[in-house]
Amino acid sequence: MQNETIGKTFAVALGVCLVSSIFVSYAAVSLRDKQIENKKLDKVKNILIAGNLYDQSRSIQEIYNQYIKAEIIDLKTGDPLPQDQYNDDLNPDDFDIQAIADNPDYSEPLPAEKDIAGIRRLPRYMAVYRVIEDGELTRIIVPVFGKGLWSTLYGFLAIDKDFKTASGLTFYQHGETPGLGGEVDNPLWKASWKGKQLLDDQGNVLIEVIKGKVVPSSPKADHQVDGLSGATLTTRGINSLIRFWLGENGYGPFLKKLKEGSNNE
Ligand SMILES: Cc1cc2nc3c(=O)[nH]c(=O)nc-3n(C[C@H](O)[C@H](O)[C@H](O)COP(=O)(O)O)c2cc1C
Repeated sequence: MQNETIGKTFAVALGVCLVSSIFVSYAAVSLRDKQIENKKLDKVKNILIAGNLYDQSRSIQEIYNQYIKAEIIDLKTGDPLPQDQYNDDLNPDDFDIQAIADNPDYSEPLPAEKDIAGIRRLPRYMAVYRVIEDGELTRIIVPVFGKGLWSTLYGFLAIDKDFKTASGLTFYQHGETPGLGGEVDNPLWKASWKGKQLLDDQGNVLIEVIKGKVVPSSPKADHQVDGLSGATLTTRGINSLIRFWLGENGYGPFLKKLKEGSNNE
């Protein structure tokens, strides 16, 4: 009897495909929880990096628990959301910006003329992170996001206790091109944000990410950051998203109240 028939070849190929797909599906399903957990941990790590708190020799969760006090704020009023209104979605330790922004119960459409960050929907609530050292508030870390060239960039901006000076910036998720827009991850560029003036004393947004390099002798140098070379469109996106989140539709009301001391506990 002939063993090598077309039918048998197809049957073997089909069998191999079936067994492989079962393995791949099993791996995808069984690793899903781990992936979600790793993604969450990476976000926490980035909160610490933005706040200059990350220390490789210590557990991320331990540092977070030591220094960070998270809360949900109402963006329009700048006030904290009372804890008895927390639920599975509105919960500072498990806050999913994309889910909140997509949920019509917790967000609203943003008119095009206000939407300089290209986010389309504005969350009503955001999780913010106070850094407490020796019982004192030393910085505040806020999530920021907006459109670059190819993707929406998600990150954290740390603001000094004067509520107008940058102390760090990091992006934990984006799809910009490595070597071009992807240079948002360059440690030197990120470090250049430290000490830059984000706002003036009246709360007006000053910070600008410019095309090209900042001229150190320029009177604007204290509130300008170098653009990313060969990535004008990503640079423009970052400029717009940072300015949006510091403005009146972003954290403006919250920062104003922090400065006045009226939403401190
Ligand atoms: C494959 C490819 C990937 C690119 N990726 C980016 C990017 O991530 N960010 C960006 O701003 N520009 C990117 N660009 C370049 C833009 O198309 C555009 O030329 C650039 O933003 C202009 O910047 P420049 O004026 O600094 O040269 C990419 C271009 C190519 C061909």
